[in-house]
Amino acid sequence: MTRPRLVIGNWKMNPATLEEAVVLAHDRRATPHEGVGLGVAPPSIALPAVAVALRGSDVRVFAQDVHWAEKGAYTGQVAASMLRGLAFGTIVGHSEVRRDQGDDDARVAAKAGAAFRAGLHVIFCLGESLAERKRGETDAVLARQVRDGIGAIDRAALGDAGTLALAYEPIWAIGTGEAATGAQASAAVARLRSELTRQGLDGDAIPILYGGSVTGGNASEFARAEGVDGALVGGASLKQDEFAEIVAAFR
Ligand code: PGA
Repeated sequence: MTRPRLVIGNWKMNPATLEEAVVLAHDRRATPHEGVGLGVAPPSIALPAVAVALRGSDVRVFAQDVHWAEKGAYTGQVAASMLRGLAFGTIVGHSEVRRDQGDDDARVAAKAGAAFRAGLHVIFCLGESLAERKRGETDAVLARQVRDGIGAIDRAALGDAGTLALAYEPIWAIGTGEAATGAQASAAVARLRSELTRQGLDGDAIPILYGGSVTGGNASEFARAEGVDGALVGGASLKQDEFAEIVAAFR
């Protein structure tokens, strides 16, 4: 089964200004990435400027989150339909959003459904906390997140799942400098694929990225790891040379 290789930079709440976001977008245009699908996920306020900066390139623009409702009284939120013409897709379920906005599996499923209905691709994030891993609950947590999250996405909106990718992001590895090992990532990805299949999806066809302290130094470990199709990169995606090294590892 050949799945696409994808490397997506999640800029989170960076960089500090729109001008810097445009500079970063131009850097990405110049990042060699033959054979790898390249994406950037800027803050929503920067989406229009970044979309313009990347017009005519094959670098895909993603939102970092989307609301579950089509429109209405949701102060501060962005509806999926508002991303048309600006973004190719969106991240949902990032652990920082789950943490800060109280998203649970059902709400992430609703956000993914809203994104699919608006014609967006979805990168669905999941992963266990350190406490859950220490208690030996990693497999159970991943199974639950697939069942109650992905399994609860409106099937009509999801279609054949060709527009879905997963990102396995153990919470303890995000922004800590303590990445998982390639073996840990492979084990989690295998668990996720079998659970996707149990949910009636084609687990072997769905790309799964690893995320959590990916650097230029460790990217090749994940590029070689069985079943890992790419990386969702936070901190290192803001550094041109390091991000280019990560992309090169997956080529
Ligand atoms: P990090 O973030 O690479 O800074 O650990 C990854 C992510 O949260 O997507």
